[in-house]
Amino acid sequence: MNKDMKKILFSEDQIRSRCIELGRQISDDYTAMGSSPLLVGLLRGSVPFMAELIKHLDLDAQYDFMDVTSYAGTKSTGDIKIIKDLDTSIEGKDILLVEDIVDTGRTIKAVKELMHNKGARSVKVVTLLDKPERREVEEVAEYVGFEIANEFVVGFGMDFDQRYRCLPYVGVLKDEMYQ
Ligand code: PRP
Repeated sequence: MNKDMKKILFSEDQIRSRCIELGRQISDDYTAMGSSPLLVGLLRGSVPFMAELIKHLDLDAQYDFMDVTSYAGTKSTGDIKIIKDLDTSIEGKDILLVEDIVDTGRTIKAVKELMHNKGARSVKVVTLLDKPERREVEEVAEYVGFEIANEFVVGFGMDFDQRYRCLPYVGVLKDEMYQ
């Protein structure tokens, strides 16, 4: 375990096993709909989760990435600025947003609205982690890897000051690392 970590919450094996289950569930649901979704990963945190999840999809799926950020000072409105947009049109497509974590819910709310405005047929969310205690808007992810308490987590894509994203597991940092 990395020396800055207080504990490991989800090991590499646990994450892979959960991705296999999520992959099956997502494949069954979209197959039942007769649909091939476009997976949209939100940079940068979603990259390791996206990479693991797509291995377990039995679908003719495609993927792309977006990078968004909240407008400084207007976080409460949920407005987002697009840093990197999608390279393909989403008109009429079934979109599956891929997130590492849903916290206040503001990011997925804003991105979902944006995608509906751009003509997506449906927009669903798959997230590795969900922190329902922190929710500020009424948003739910259709597919959740693990629900967690309000702890500061890093690893498997998640950072503190851009560090720890490359760890192969999700862990909780020692308090002294961010206080
Ligand atoms: C994190 C995470 C989600 C968002 C969740 O992204 O990846 O996109 O915050 O928070 P919310 O539910 O309160 O909106 P961040 O802006 O830290 O960027 P990153 O993915 O590059 O780490």
